[in-house]
Amino acid sequence: CLQPRPSGLSRDAFIKHYGDIYEHSPWVAQAAWETGLTSAHDHPDALADAMGLQLQQAGSDQQIRVIQAHPDLAGKAAMAGKLTQDSTSEQAGAGLDQCTPAEFARFEQLNADYKERFGFPFVIAVKGLDRHAILEAFAKRLENDVATERKTAIEQIIRIARLRLRARAAEQQQ
Ligand code: GUN
Repeated sequence: CLQPRPSGLSRDAFIKHYGDIYEHSPWVAQAAWETGLTSAHDHPDALADAMGLQLQQAGSDQQIRVIQAHPDLAGKAAMAGKLTQDSTSEQAGAGLDQCTPAEFARFEQLNADYKERFGFPFVIAVKGLDRHAILEAFAKRLENDVATERKTAIEQIIRIARLRLRARAAEQQQ
């Protein structure tokens, strides 16, 4: 079923538009398109549901690879300006580029502790949170077990994608 549908984008156009919604994981958009549920692509929440379902239904190895595709919060890649455009604006929106040296050091420590404990980076949808709230959530989530954290990370990633889709739809309306 690789034909463009009347109310939807062609497969190539869809992936070109939405392949980057999930960080370095275009297969999510691809799998969502193939379900046919994305023909309502003008509704960001419908699209978010269709794409989120693919990630929820993926195997645990695939889920872990998507979690691992996320950069550290306030990490070295962020400081070096090496993030995707979406990550850059999300991290800056939460003021993570304004951390004091002590806050950067705290993030560095928590990022290292978290990755050592769980084997993947800490992911949280940062919209609406400030540095203080993020650090608090970070320390709290470090106490979870690995199954809870994997589930939480996937939920947060699906939320990040939803926020990205809404932001993109709002941009297109301007
Ligand atoms: N939450 C929103 N954006 C990001 C990101 O780039 N990295 C991580 N770890 N969490 C996020």
